[in-house]
Amino acid sequence: MRIGIIGAGQLGQMLGFAARAHGYTCLFLDPSAKPPAARIGPVIQARFDDRVALAVLADKCDVLTYEFENVPVDALADVADLVPIYPPLDALRQAQDRLSEKQLFTALHIPIPEYRAIDSSDDLHDAAAAIGLPLVLKTRRLGYDGKGQFVLRSTGQVDEAWQDLGAKDLIAEQWVEFDYEASVIGVRSISGDIVTYCLTRNEHADGILRISRAPVEDAGLTEQANAHIRRLLRHLDYVGVLALELFVTGDRLLANEFAPRVHNSGHWTIEGAETSQFSNHVMAVAGAQPGPTGNRGHAGMVNLISHLPNAARQLTAGSLHDYGKTPRPGRKLGHITVVADSAAARDRLIDEICDSVTKSSSQAGTAT
Ligand SMILES: Nc1ncnc2c1ncn2[C@@H]1O[C@H](COP(=O)(O)OP(=O)(O)O)[C@@H](O)[C@H]1O
Ligand SMILES: [Mg+2]
Repeated sequence: MRIGIIGAGQLGQMLGFAARAHGYTCLFLDPSAKPPAARIGPVIQARFDDRVALAVLADKCDVLTYEFENVPVDALADVADLVPIYPPLDALRQAQDRLSEKQLFTALHIPIPEYRAIDSSDDLHDAAAAIGLPLVLKTRRLGYDGKGQFVLRSTGQVDEAWQDLGAKDLIAEQWVEFDYEASVIGVRSISGDIVTYCLTRNEHADGILRISRAPVEDAGLTEQANAHIRRLLRHLDYVGVLALELFVTGDRLLANEFAPRVHNSGHWTIEGAETSQFSNHVMAVAGAQPGPTGNRGHAGMVNLISHLPNAARQLTAGSLHDYGKTPRPGRKLGHITVVADSAAARDRLIDEICDSVTKSSSQAGTAT
């Protein structure tokens, strides 16, 4: 079995490691010269919308999947009769547009923050009057890691916000005063079996995930999250891993967005779950049954962003995953996972890692 993976970043790399462990081979497609997944298998260097390259990938592989959600759907649709593509293109299409994503949540009775489609600065004035301020204005397409967003705090900023985000195709969302953010990851096989991982608590800064902790020990929230993700997986006739990002307010969940792919908030599953999200994605798209998703303990994950300090290499407390990327401000370069016997012990380890990573990053900052 050969799996074609569109995108050869760190998610592709981790999918590739999992595929290899199952005896599958991988072929990647990515425009970069030396992407992280080149460690695992050959890469066709081409743009994601290069039809010829996609046809070669389809011809050489038994199934295609993708590691990120901004793959041009039309280009993929052109090779869909040559090879199965999972997750299904319809799920990808809906995830690519925040408006259709919100409409899907509403149709499935999954609660979401109040929102309006914004097609003019007048619409934005109307949304501010109807929903109240602050509002988060987002581009409908191509946003990631908090990019393509503007927090509107006064109506005096309407024109600036509208222009700043490209003056077209936006949505405005109510600013949610959440208690914390969470996510749930589910996997569906070709035959329709579903497994889910525990609810994970996530901390973001500047729109980028910094820390995840699992499990969230709250039966009521877990039940809601499972019901939501199962409804999505079934409705989309989904195959593979899907991640649902949520806001927790009291005993209620509001859906933020979903990703039709493996997700950063599930990296802890490599060490912290019986089967990792990467293994389960690979097995699902290859036509196998997903493996068990139970926890091996209390797991935590710290993202290494902008710098990968030597201190991170010397830590004995956790497992370092170095993606082999060139450092750049705001870039995810690696992560560290910890697994402990209790939530308190896990949180202590996370604090220690954050302290030493932050200390050596700031020393690196002063030295350069
Ligand atoms: N409506 C909102 N209320 C409060 N915070 C928000 C809202 N929307 C987004 N955020 C914050 O910004 C982060 C990134 O936004 P998100 O919609 O998930 O976009 P991205 O595609 O960049 O991940 C979220 O994880 C959250 O921390
Ligand atoms: Mg997000």
